[in-house]
Amino acid sequence: MEKHSIGKLALFALIGLVALPLAARGEGVEIARAQAVTAAHGMVVAQEALAARVGADILQRGGNAVDAAVAVGFAMAVTYPRAGNLGGGGFMVIHRSGGEDTAIDYRETAPAAINKTSFLDAQGNADPQKSRDSALAIGVPGTVAGLALAEEKYGSGHFKLADLIAPAIALARDGITVADDTADSLPVDRPRLARWPSSAQIFLKPDGSALAQGDRLVQPELANTLQVIAAGGPRAFYEGETAQKLAAAVQAAGGVMTVDDLKAYRAIERAPVRGSYRGYDIVSMPPPSSGGVALVEMLNILEGYDLAHADRTQALFLMIEAMKRAYADRAFFLGDPDVVKVPVARLISKSYAGEWRATIDPAHATAAKDIHPNAAPLQSEGRNTTHFSVIDGFGNAVSNTYTLNFSYGVGVVAAGTGILLNNELDDFAAKADAPNAYGLLGFAANAPGPGKRPLSSMTPTIVLKDGKPYLVTGTPGGSRIISAVLQVVVGVIDRGMDIASAVSAPRVHHQWMPDQVWAEPALPSDLVAALQARGDTVTVQKFPTSANSILATPSGFAGAADPRTRGSLAVGY
Ligand code: DON
Repeated sequence: MEKHSIGKLALFALIGLVALPLAARGEGVEIARAQAVTAAHGMVVAQEALAARVGADILQRGGNAVDAAVAVGFAMAVTYPRAGNLGGGGFMVIHRSGGEDTAIDYRETAPAAINKTSFLDAQGNADPQKSRDSALAIGVPGTVAGLALAEEKYGSGHFKLADLIAPAIALARDGITVADDTADSLPVDRPRLARWPSSAQIFLKPDGSALAQGDRLVQPELANTLQVIAAGGPRAFYEGETAQKLAAAVQAAGGVMTVDDLKAYRAIERAPVRGSYRGYDIVSMPPPSSGGVALVEMLNILEGYDLAHADRTQALFLMIEAMKRAYADRAFFLGDPDVVKVPVARLISKSYAGEWRATIDPAHATAAKDIHPNAAPLQSEGRNTTHFSVIDGFGNAVSNTYTLNFSYGVGVVAAGTGILLNNELDDFAAKADAPNAYGLLGFAANAPGPGKRPLSSMTPTIVLKDGKPYLVTGTPGGSRIISAVLQVVVGVIDRGMDIASAVSAPRVHHQWMPDQVWAEPALPSDLVAALQARGDTVTVQKFPTSANSILATPSGFAGAADPRTRGSLAVGY
């Protein structure tokens, strides 16, 4: 068992919204600069402040990063209903002090009754209403199984699962004050929640308006469900009364999930995707996420260029070229590895990156239509997300991204449980070549199928230096997740940025199709013009990313809460 003398603790926290403008931009829209928080013993950076403090408290009480992450995961199901969840799924990448790395896949699965035609209309075309806006889109939730598995295998042993759920129960039962991003997002998503009395009862006022800044959000049924899990463990969620209520609610809303689907759900421990980049080790999420594979592939391509000395336009241009190629591979080759054969080893090899590099013209943009992935023939075999980073003083780190897909998922609370349900099955390619809600294309590898996990972009990542956690990062943002994580990693490693600068810096994105670059409004207009001059089409738009990250520095852990979304917090001690 790990021992840790905490000594005198000075808990300090800073909202990551301190509006220090970035260096003069010449542009109208600036991103508030993240304020790095430094600490000696441990750090939690999360999108919601109460939950971040819950995690820091567990660290202070001698817990390890996994204990803290599990407590944050349950707490955010209460305090950040837009994305924190019991009714969705996600991924956790863990680095252990002994040197071992592992990944917990708690992605939702498709119910047994889902098949290739589930999300098509009568004409055989993809029907976004079915995959995004109906109960058919609800995947079997994985979060409870995933958090419990992480704790059982990698918790410190000082805490029972029930101890880590207790803060969430109190927050649900006593209620919280609506603030920050929840206050911002509830009015936007009100119409989707309003359709379901079980959801309206929790998130709306009697007059039908959304709970607003300063209102109380009290969730007694969610508190009861959490109590059931605390008392009976994760099986009490997947079997028995809670499972019956979940299945009944999904079916009443027109979906196909059964108690057997819930009973069959298992979180899976997987070997992380590993890569190396300029002497650092990259540890990230393997399929059914595309994130780790695409991240390592892009870094391998970029390793062939001197980004540290490249001018900013050239560095961005090369990153965009790498994005086009990795996102094309994503579309063609990635899917649930338990159902399709995914050529991971080839995609993350240095030699494959070399082949891609040979197709890059350093002065002219490659058109997406001229990018032809060539990894391997597929052999068939048998909005909204949130990211938090945790590090402890023992040498452990956790990078966790979890989601309901859309903000507040499909909008349905399963009656009697307090649990908001996901619409994750839109992450399947409803039909070959039909884009999902993030415009991502997919083909056979990511076709819907019974029990199958839809391909994700979530990229919880830990970068190691000399075998020790150096950078813990990840973000929400749908398709923009992988490119955002790339830019944080390159910002720190190649551009020598501190963590606050790397998190705040304006981002660009390309996902192969549609063939265009998106740039955040804070990107200087001369850079946009320079990219256009090389042949890229650039659209300027805000990004829904929030890369809550931690960097190990000589003076301690530096945490940066992403300033793009209100309420994020870095808490250290
Ligand atoms: O797993 C995925 O890739 C998506 N369901 C994530 C959705 C997301 O990040 C929405 N947040 N902005």
